Amino acid sequence: MFTKAQIESFKNLKTPFYYYDLELLRSTLDQIKEHGLSKGYHIHFAIKANFNFPVLEQIKEAGLGIDCVSGKEIERAIEAGFEPEQIAFAGVGKTDEEILTGLHHDIFSFNCESLQELEVLNELASEAGKTANVSIRLNPNVEANTHKYITTGLNENKFGITADKLPSLFEILPSFKALKLSGIHFHIGSQIRDLKPFAELCEKVNSLQDLFEQKGYQLEHINLGGGYGINYDAPDDEPIPDFKSFFELFDHKLELRDGQQVHFELGRSIVGQCGNLISKVLFIKEGISTNFAVIDAGMTELIRPALYQASHKVEVLTSSKPEKTYDVVGPICESSDTFQRGISLPEMNRGDLVAIRSAGAYGEVMSSGFNLRERVKAYYSDDLK
Ligand code: LLP
Repeated sequence: MFTKAQIESFKNLKTPFYYYDLELLRSTLDQIKEHGLSKGYHIHFAIKANFNFPVLEQIKEAGLGIDCVSGKEIERAIEAGFEPEQIAFAGVGKTDEEILTGLHHDIFSFNCESLQELEVLNELASEAGKTANVSIRLNPNVEANTHKYITTGLNENKFGITADKLPSLFEILPSFKALKLSGIHFHIGSQIRDLKPFAELCEKVNSLQDLFEQKGYQLEHINLGGGYGINYDAPDDEPIPDFKSFFELFDHKLELRDGQQVHFELGRSIVGQCGNLISKVLFIKEGISTNFAVIDAGMTELIRPALYQASHKVEVLTSSKPEKTYDVVGPICESSDTFQRGISLPEMNRGDLVAIRSAGAYGEVMSSGFNLRERVKAYYSDDLK
């Protein structure tokens, strides 16, 4: 939902551009504080979803930590003012250099995804004269019921250590003198709207925790990853995800030990709805069965529709004429460069502005230079009044 004044200010800016509603981000963070942080849950923002400094600033202010998947993300988090003890570092393919970055900063935890990674981390930590805090990423084989490209917790996925490797893990762990095992970590997938997979995850966590205890490991923390989804179809009906229900599920289902910390790594649910890609109609082209609205943003600015068949609501900002049927497409030389097919929208003309909604997570960060396109600018509601 945009005000007239906002739309007027958009008219003076070069399109396409990202526009972030920081007011909505703050309200979202308030809900996380109320339903998550207030219960003692530790929440790390998955910086891969959005790494813009003004966004990170709000997140830091709210008291969240960071979840990283690369050395550069660790550096970005530190530059944005997060403390190393608030930083978790996941990823199946950490390079030696990235591991050294994490060790140098004494981060909260390395979420290790394979036995070989543990071995390498142990070697590098001992050479550096450090003890690395480790959380073992376990693959719980839980179906997340989401797009297969963003499903991560099944045996067939590359992520985490599968149950069959646990005997070898327990055998080898005591030999790693430069590692301190402090927790277990999970992440079953992304854009999970239904809470059932999280309930199933809790059951797996409970039994795995028993197993670690039997082997003599008292876990200081359980990290459940992220994955909570947002409403892409009707962003104005649900601008803030229902965090109350999300956190309550874990209150009820997790069997925690005394003093045990619970961590989450939420990305999309925090920043998804606050970001919009604003674009201008270049041409209207009559097709055989539809009209093509060719806009100046493409898959280079927002790849989600092309990559995951994702649907982002398209809102026409400068026309309230009777509706016509459109395919809203970008300028890139790929047929997958299509935002919406066969939708009814107010009649558009060259120069009209559209907003592609719910683009705050995995939008700008996944943009590319294909066709030698330039990186677009970002604007923030606090600056554009
Ligand atoms: N923790 C780990 C270990 C992850 O791999 C991810 C996301 C998250 C947390 C945060 O998940 P979230 O709360 O945002 O669902 N580019 C895709 C999403 C890929 C997610 C990758 N991992 C998309 O645009 O849908």
